[in-house]
Amino acid sequence: MTDAISPNPLVAICMGSTSDLPTMKAAGEVLRTFEIPYETRILSAHRTPTAMVDFGEAAVDRGFEVIIAGAGGAAHLPGMLASLTTLPVIGVPVLNGALAGMDALLSIVQMPRGVPVATVAIGNATNAGYLAIRMLATTRPTLRQALEAHAEARAQKVRDDDRATRG
Ligand code: RP5
Repeated sequence: MTDAISPNPLVAICMGSTSDLPTMKAAGEVLRTFEIPYETRILSAHRTPTAMVDFGEAAVDRGFEVIIAGAGGAAHLPGMLASLTTLPVIGVPVLNGALAGMDALLSIVQMPRGVPVATVAIGNATNAGYLAIRMLATTRPTLRQALEAHAEARAQKVRDDDRATRG
């Protein structure tokens, strides 16, 4: 990459508990593919609200450009972070418990007007990573070219699979 990508983390991957890590690590895998520096934090809206507030209020000054936030159950972390910063927040509903992630999905997606959280599908931290990269790519031409090449490689694989499958 030749865009001036800062060595400091551009993306924060936040989650409410280490039990969210198996889901959330997929976002980091995508970011690493595109060499985007990121920081991973465990911040609970309910168990460590003060740490969450401190992080959210400092996020702009620390140079972050996107926050990915995942939580399960009564999933308030993404929305609370969105209330504490003007950075774009991408919410990941984590499948955790009796309601199969629907509780987290509705908690994250049903935000009041003016405090948006861009919510991905239940458990789909991969798409949160891709969406963060698309946001960063709006001002980084080299990153946009890398995304285009990545999409073309995926399309070529589908065409190859189609050819191989139809015989
Ligand atoms: C949420 O509560 C976390 O995001 C996690 O998904 C859920 C359960 O947390 P643990 O009891 O597994 O720590 O805050």
